[in-house]
Amino acid sequence: MQPWKKDRIEIGILGLGVVGSGTVDLLQKNCAEIEQKIGIPLHIKRIAVRDLEKPRAVKVDRALLTNNAYEVIDDPDIDIVCELIGGVDPAKEFVLRALHNGKQVVTANKEMIAKEGQPLMEAASHANLDFQFEGSVAGGIPIIQPMKNALAGNQIEEVMGIINGTTNYILTKMTREHADFDAVLAEAQAHGYAEVDPTNDIEGYDAQYKIAILSSIAFTSRINVNDVYVEGITHIAKADIAYAEELGYIIKLVGIGRRMEGNRVQVRVHPTLLPKSHPLASTHDVYNAVLVRGYSVGDVMFYGRGAGSGPTGSAVVGDIMDVCRNLRFGSTGRVSCTCFEHKTVVPMDDVCTRHYLRMDVQDKPGVLARIAYELGENAISIETVVQRATFGDQAEIVWITHEAPNANVRRAKERIAQLPVVISVANWLRVE
Ligand SMILES: NC(=O)c1ccc[n+]([C@@H]2O[C@H](COP(=O)([O-])OP(=O)(O)OC[C@H]3O[C@@H](n4cnc5c(N)ncnc54)[C@H](OP(=O)(O)O)[C@@H]3O)[C@@H](O)[C@H]2O)c1
Repeated sequence: MQPWKKDRIEIGILGLGVVGSGTVDLLQKNCAEIEQKIGIPLHIKRIAVRDLEKPRAVKVDRALLTNNAYEVIDDPDIDIVCELIGGVDPAKEFVLRALHNGKQVVTANKEMIAKEGQPLMEAASHANLDFQFEGSVAGGIPIIQPMKNALAGNQIEEVMGIINGTTNYILTKMTREHADFDAVLAEAQAHGYAEVDPTNDIEGYDAQYKIAILSSIAFTSRINVNDVYVEGITHIAKADIAYAEELGYIIKLVGIGRRMEGNRVQVRVHPTLLPKSHPLASTHDVYNAVLVRGYSVGDVMFYGRGAGSGPTGSAVVGDIMDVCRNLRFGSTGRVSCTCFEHKTVVPMDDVCTRHYLRMDVQDKPGVLARIAYELGENAISIETVVQRATFGDQAEIVWITHEAPNANVRRAKERIAQLPVVISVANWLRVE
């Protein structure tokens, strides 16, 4: 590629919502410093939105706005297209067309990357174009660029993170205020920390996209998002949080990618009891954190705001600046897709973890032994057990087990639920 000849770099933006506004705001407010750092002026040429009349969180010249995305994608003057619309349709088609038109692309779209990343990265790679997506995981926290650059020499053993701010906010509030899930969710919605339709967050799908992306980079193998085990936080009761606390743990929704022997990996998202001493355990409220364990570097921790206009805008602008430097020196497409191996995601049944089980039982002699027998029959050994009378002739028993395959616990749980002395197996969670 030839070094850059134009006197400025033209940017086109698709979407002026939460992230689009944060991006434009930062590009405008810090424009002098940004230009100094990249050595060339940047100019926003066009911004596509759906509704031209909608009030905007950022001051923009209305003449820049269009409700026709193709006026951005097909504009021959535009060098970088930022896709900040979200979802797969029509974002994927817009990005493919922008790449086809020879544009560099920056996006924050986790769903599109997790589900359709491969064809997009291949298209960028074939054309030696940059395709950057730092904002797609953990908002303002730099994690993708560090894994692809500064940590690239390491074989990554594990990537583990609290990567959804909404669920972390809910679990933090439940822990601090001994409150129920439904009450805290309603409050989070009232404060704008949770969407009107919170499904993507509370059922774990948002974290599922993100851990699929992080694991693909960590393990140099494309992780199919459908192979990632996902369990949300809707079944967490304040009783679970109280027992966890009493036993020295805190419950967090954690995404885990772990390298295993023989070209296999674990990739999963579920509520997890973390020991209070765990590096991720002190990540509270809407904050995110990602822990990366590299062969040579050891543990590296990234912490910050995982969403929002300013933080995600910061990640998008960082990507834009990186692309500008590549454009200036004729080196776009330098760091392309790193998925050159094929690794198999182990089914959750075969994953070995420690387990937490909470049960409502009849409060009478021999119950504990009867349940312990079923656990033993499934090769599950017990680490801790707590029994407490609740009301009438009922009691609650909480078990923490040693490591056992998930399949064994599932089988034992089914058997235990059928015992006449057991009223219900109220919850089953994993312990790190
Ligand atoms: N929000 C966050 O904190 C956050 C954090 C990390 C990553 N992300 C990702 O960033 C992306 C954007 O999220 P967001 O929260 O900024 O979404 P948003 O607030 O809903 O904004 C989406 C924008 O896209 C525009 N748009 C939708 N369809 C369009 C079309 N066909 N043509 C042109 N414009 C169109 C909308 O226009 P109108 O304004 O006219 O409706 C709106 O401005 C998503 O992929 C999301 O996953 C978001």
